[in-house]
Amino acid sequence: MTGRPAPPASAGDTRLVGIRVLTREELHAAAVILAQGMLDNPLHVRVFGSSPVPRERRLLRFLGGVIGHVEAHGEVLGAFAGGELVGVLGMMEPGRCRPTLRERLRLGCLIVAGNPPATVLRIRRWLSVWARNDPAGPHWHIGPLAVAEAYRRRGIGRRLMMHCCEQIDAVAAAAYLETDLARNVTFYETLGFAVIQRETVLGVPNWFMLRPPSPGRPDEAAASPV
Ligand SMILES: CC(C)(COP(=O)(O)OP(=O)(O)OC[C@H]1O[C@@H](n2cnc3c(N)ncnc32)[C@H](O)[C@@H]1OP(=O)(O)O)[C@@H](O)C(=O)NCCC(=O)NCCS
Repeated sequence: MTGRPAPPASAGDTRLVGIRVLTREELHAAAVILAQGMLDNPLHVRVFGSSPVPRERRLLRFLGGVIGHVEAHGEVLGAFAGGELVGVLGMMEPGRCRPTLRERLRLGCLIVAGNPPATVLRIRRWLSVWARNDPAGPHWHIGPLAVAEAYRRRGIGRRLMMHCCEQIDAVAAAAYLETDLARNVTFYETLGFAVIQRETVLGVPNWFMLRPPSPGRPDEAAASPV
């Protein structure tokens, strides 16, 4: 992506990045970070279309609904650099990630209202595969996750994930997530996640990853940038 502002020089020092739980009023800003940050993820391109402008608009609407659901069933973490929100991570409590009938209807209406019929069908297909792979056992459900492009490769994504994993380790619980990028699989493996299933969704490879309860601290060496 082009045209994004360059980060301040201080953003290079990840000790200056603060992480806290976002309030409901901050969820729109979180959805903007997620929609821009995940705009080029292969599954989103496949589902929401190859044209970036309508894709971002549809993704923003969709992720606005998703992040509201996540906040209602867990928490949404925000990473701030110089007071600016630059990274977002959602986590849902065990037993609370699957939407109730009422929530499915609400999300369904939002999807139908904001997308052409072919996109609606693709979203349905995508979500049905993800729902089928959701583990039966108790787990924290992690995601969505994105860091603003100008702030990537500075350890912010890792810090968000470690913050989340520390909370989960404190209660000796399992964590689960989905990803559509091989490089993210490698990243999550350094945090103790392992691939438990792989499935192609609409022609895009997806990996389903589980982190068993209290596997010990994430690899110290891999966690070094902070
Ligand atoms: C995934 C993401 C959140 C990581 O955030 P980040 O702040 O850049 O991550 P970090 O700087 O903490 O780096 C973590 C590790 O991720 C991996 N990684 C991140 N970006 C990478 C890239 N472009 N290529 C290869 N590896 C990459 C590396 O292993 C990296 O560790 P290293 O820098 O020590 O080698 C960020 O790249 C992003 O927003 N991506 C787009 C959206 C997305 O894919 N979200 C996750 C959906 S499951």
